[in-house]
Amino acid sequence: MSYNRVIIDTFGSPEVLKFVNEDVMPEPGRGEVRIKVTVVSACFTDTMVRKGIYFGMKKKPPFSPGYDMVGVIDKTGPEASLFKIGDRVADLTVTGSYTEYICLPESSLTPIPDGIDDGEAVSMVLSYVTAYQMLNRAAHVRKGQSILVHGAGGAVGTALLQLASVMDIKVYGTGSSSKQELIHNLGAIPIDYKTESIFDRMMELEPQGIDAAFDAIGGESFKTSFRLLKRGGILVPYGFYKNSTGQGGNVAFEFLRLKLWNLLPNTKKVQFYSIGDVRKRHPEWFKEDLSALFTMLMEGYVSPVIAKRLPLREAKTAHEMIENASVGGRILLQVGL
Ligand SMILES: NC(=O)c1ccc[n+]([C@@H]2O[C@H](COP(=O)([O-])OP(=O)(O)OC[C@H]3O[C@@H](n4cnc5c(N)ncnc54)[C@H](OP(=O)(O)O)[C@@H]3O)[C@@H](O)[C@H]2O)c1
Repeated sequence: MSYNRVIIDTFGSPEVLKFVNEDVMPEPGRGEVRIKVTVVSACFTDTMVRKGIYFGMKKKPPFSPGYDMVGVIDKTGPEASLFKIGDRVADLTVTGSYTEYICLPESSLTPIPDGIDDGEAVSMVLSYVTAYQMLNRAAHVRKGQSILVHGAGGAVGTALLQLASVMDIKVYGTGSSSKQELIHNLGAIPIDYKTESIFDRMMELEPQGIDAAFDAIGGESFKTSFRLLKRGGILVPYGFYKNSTGQGGNVAFEFLRLKLWNLLPNTKKVQFYSIGDVRKRHPEWFKEDLSALFTMLMEGYVSPVIAKRLPLREAKTAHEMIENASVGGRILLQVGL
């Protein structure tokens, strides 16, 4: 039996994403299961992997990109006993999920409760776990506090807005003009970073400063976010969007600067967040938090903003849309269509 997947055989622009047919099905090894993938996210981080600029990634093409996935177990390997054929599961794969079939260690999988749409479930895996852990495990925000979210109309940004609103937190969200309505509809106060000074506007709105800032933009944005914190406030940087989109910024220098801010006696804190590092240090947190998010989804507390669902073979179009920031929320790739 053959199957389809998307591969890159060299790093580069969206054109390097190729939809190919493979003659031989992947077979699950010891402790692994084979999953028939139903849906994956197409996310900004996938575009960094595709370009070969994802920090710390040693993998060389050819390989399939794909940071997360949802699917149904189709075959169990030797000594795999936690799941049975037909069970629906999710995982953070980092690479490899732009495919119809994937083999994964069963120990890394999180079961998906009945009654949740596959696309909504996959939206929880990378973006919502990132948002949830930044709010609860890094910044420890509490009801009544105020926070600033950059890139608030994006996949992680919209997740932060929804989760903060459930927690009764006052949120300010930055985005371009096309994202203002979405940010407002998600309960946040929008700031157009292209036409307004974020610093001046925030000083007007919150003269005492804010409790936390969530910033994956980098460069001057980190500086502004840090300056806007009140005493005891925390900056959670979690990416370098500017650097990744060729708008400047030196990642090594920025890490050094963040370290320095933490050392200075300024009553404020910086805590860089990385979903991969946190999962490595606390694998149990990942499953616990993803399961909590599935429950929130079932109970109607969150409802991911899904802007587009495209077939897997249109991964190139999805990457172009992400790189042009042309949609609010997220794009999903439906597999097997
Ligand atoms: N550390 C981690 O564990 C982790 C996990 C997930 C994602 N990330 C990182 O987080 C970042 C965002 O990911 P994502 O999936 O949410 O991406 P996304 O869906 O592409 O969203 C990024 C958003 O930022 C907005 N934006 C661009 N420049 C901006 C600026 N200067 N100020 C404010 N907003 C700006 C874009 O739209 P507009 O310009 O139209 O507003 C877009 O809506 C990426 O760098 C990604 O690698 C890190």
